[in-house]
Amino acid sequence: MSTNTFGHMFRVTTFGESHGPALGCVVDGCPPGIPLVEADIQADLDRRRPGQSKFVTQRKEPDRVRILSGVFQDERMKQQVTTGTPIALLIENVDARSKDYSDIRDKFRPGHADYTYWAKYGVRDYKGSGRASARETAARVAAGAVARKVLDALYKTVRVRGALIQMGTQTIERKRWDWDEVAKNPFFCPDARAVGPWTEYLEGVRKRGSSCGAIVEVVAEGIPAGLGAPVYGKLDADLASALMGINAVKGVEIGDGFATAALSGEDNADEMRKGRGGKPKFLSNHAGGILGGISSGQPVVARFAVKPTSSILSPRKTVDIDGNETDVVTKGRHDPCVGIRAVPVGEAMVALVLADHALRHRGQIG
Ligand SMILES: Cc1cc2nc3c(=O)[nH]c(=O)nc-3n(C[C@H](O)[C@H](O)[C@H](O)COP(=O)(O)O)c2cc1C
Repeated sequence: MSTNTFGHMFRVTTFGESHGPALGCVVDGCPPGIPLVEADIQADLDRRRPGQSKFVTQRKEPDRVRILSGVFQDERMKQQVTTGTPIALLIENVDARSKDYSDIRDKFRPGHADYTYWAKYGVRDYKGSGRASARETAARVAAGAVARKVLDALYKTVRVRGALIQMGTQTIERKRWDWDEVAKNPFFCPDARAVGPWTEYLEGVRKRGSSCGAIVEVVAEGIPAGLGAPVYGKLDADLASALMGINAVKGVEIGDGFATAALSGEDNADEMRKGRGGKPKFLSNHAGGILGGISSGQPVVARFAVKPTSSILSPRKTVDIDGNETDVVTKGRHDPCVGIRAVPVGEAMVALVLADHALRHRGQIG
């Protein structure tokens, strides 16, 4: 595979398997002089970490990150900073239980990547799903934390935040959206009143040995007008690609997305009035902060749909590697709703795209 590198000027290469000794990434192109310590990255990793509630996988991974290179501090410097050289980040796997997977050694889980990896490579790491496992997303979150530091250094006021707005059939009331609530419940849900019903719903899904899907919304505020590179590096196109590249994601929309099909031209137009500092003030944000592939200065809004976890306890019909028909039951530890832990992953991918575009913009326009 020569496709494990992401980005143009802010480039990230991830490596590692779910049940290997470690995983991590190399971040190349980070500007020098940006304050960076392990705690900056750990905070984001802790939000994605497994085993934090009964609604996510019980695999106990501390996900401690180590910065192996690319930073420096001596006695004359107040703080550790990036040096402009490759930043290598390492996260060890400490709680892999490969024997849980012996039952699926020769069987393909419907809905998972087992069959396609086998069809393509002819060899498959069935222990924890190898590279197809969302363990890989820990490296994306670590790189995303570095991207956030780059955005902070360039624009000061950037905030990239995500929330779960739908879990299975359960939705939120947007009027009750409260960002402070997101950190207070195990679902990253922004609606305090939805948490009770969501808990009961997911408990039912979990007890049945089943799973459910979800929708995640990510909002980036404080992004100036001008990021995005028409016509083959449009900001919305790059965001869609980055979010679609997260495991289990089956749909992405920007701004009002698919709902714009039912709007009239009048309703969809984000009208403008005179704002502060010679900049326009937009009266709505149906476009999700992107016009012509370039950020407009409004909040960038992206949403993605995550499918239900395919590793479930209910028996499913399948075939084995010899083509025989059989049933498969997936034991082991799995999230009943992978959309929950996809929230920090979505934030990371948005931060990575924005940091890459911020550096590309600076490179072309200055
Ligand atoms: C945070 C996160 C955790 C995941 N955990 C699991 C899991 O425990 N079991 C599982 O079957 N799939 C899990 N997935 C999804 C699979 O990795 C994914 O469905 C599989 O690689 C096939 O790829 P695709 O769904 O993108 O086609 C997870 C996804 C995310 C984002």
